Amino acid sequence: MADGATGELGRIGLKRPDLFREQCYIDGKWTGDPTHLVHNPATGGLIGRIPNLGKSETERAVAAAEAALPKWRAQHAKARAEIMDRWCALMVKHQEDLARLMTAEQGKPLAEARGEVVYAGAFFEWFGEEAKRTYGDLIPGPAADRRIMVMKQAVGVVGAITPWNFPAAMITRKVGPAIAAGCTAVLKPSELTPYSALAIALLGEEAGLPPGVFNIVTGDAEPIGRVLTEDPRVAKFTFTGSTPVGKKLAQQCASTVKRVSLELGGNAPFLIFNDADLEAAAAGAIISKFRNTGQTCVCANRFFVQDGIYDAFAKLLAEKAGELVVGDGLAGVTQQGPLINDKALQKVEAHVADAIGHGAKVLAGARRDSHGGTFYQPTVLRDVAPDALLCREETFGPVAGLVRFKDEADAIRMANDSCAGLAAYAYTRDLSRSWRVSEGLEYGMIGMNTGLISSEVLPFGGVKESGIGREGSKYGIEEFLEVKSIVLQL
Ligand code: SIN
Repeated sequence: MADGATGELGRIGLKRPDLFREQCYIDGKWTGDPTHLVHNPATGGLIGRIPNLGKSETERAVAAAEAALPKWRAQHAKARAEIMDRWCALMVKHQEDLARLMTAEQGKPLAEARGEVVYAGAFFEWFGEEAKRTYGDLIPGPAADRRIMVMKQAVGVVGAITPWNFPAAMITRKVGPAIAAGCTAVLKPSELTPYSALAIALLGEEAGLPPGVFNIVTGDAEPIGRVLTEDPRVAKFTFTGSTPVGKKLAQQCASTVKRVSLELGGNAPFLIFNDADLEAAAAGAIISKFRNTGQTCVCANRFFVQDGIYDAFAKLLAEKAGELVVGDGLAGVTQQGPLINDKALQKVEAHVADAIGHGAKVLAGARRDSHGGTFYQPTVLRDVAPDALLCREETFGPVAGLVRFKDEADAIRMANDSCAGLAAYAYTRDLSRSWRVSEGLEYGMIGMNTGLISSEVLPFGGVKESGIGREGSKYGIEEFLEVKSIVLQL
């Protein structure tokens, strides 16, 4: 077990220490021997342990979800909504504890973690309400004495795998609509950030979730993922993570023709036109690029800046990036935490070296930070070649690479030159251009004159290889509903 009041847990300083769980949650019971170590990426210190579960325990969780399904699905949506509402309220009530746990396991600054807790809770509240409005249809039949009725029903047991970059919100964005719609769920959170998930499960229990409705298994991704994607009792699979892993999981789902939602990698372009408000564009660029130390799927990855403002924008962005305070997220002033692990750091370094090798010039950062470990300085590079790795792949780190463009068509062409299509951003004060660019960009989400797009009311999702389906908004619940048609002969 973790070392109590000393060490990492002591530093987190939970007001409610029981929110820290080192066991999995299956059928309403806390279970499993905690053997797998979980570390704080900012300090390298040991936070605690979690169970390393596999195939048989995941099958047990699926069985529990299957057993809980009929009763949960049969409840009136209002009854489910009351629980979702209480669940959200409990998250907000324990915002500080949840945020401190999240920062310790993930590294993000405390202010961002506090924001994520509220963002995450909002999916419970929103989808509790949406579940009351899963309307069907009455369709005039093909003959005078025929009617067709359409109803929507919960798909069944949902399997979910979530990533480490948003340890709470990626869970509630999937599990919220699933459970509100009447489904039951088995979740595998990232083994790097399991404690937010387990605390959320505890609060679900306190909100009144019956046993088996929400189950959590931690452990080896391969055997757990195989059950969640191949077990015929799982009707729907939902995943947020990298594109290569998403492709593999989708293939596995094909064996039982599961419903699939995938929220995969991005390579977001950020366009700044000559007519943009430069201050606003630089502020938006900082939010979009450096949120969560550049570790979001919607982070700007390629900056396309028009000729006329290129130098001024580059200077402004470098100044702002240079002012960001790097450090341990638990220290209140921190704006940039560590990268999640050594692999992430190596990728960032490789992308920066490659860009410089292709002729880029350093305006800020481009080196490890004096905090050591996986801390990397907020970096701005200019004159980046469009074929540099920085432009071809998602960097997932605090590096802004600036590419120059001449005209609108040029910018849209370069922005669309990617197999990813999640988020894109543009800054312009020309209303007509804002429409043309929004329509021309091949992306699922556009931030026009804003660098921050996420909320529970946004249909979040991508096109091309960035995924399938939408999360959040009125569309998000549809992913967990089946359409059933009834033909009535009068
Ligand atoms: C993500 O990185 O996948 C999610 C980002 C967000 O919700 O804003």
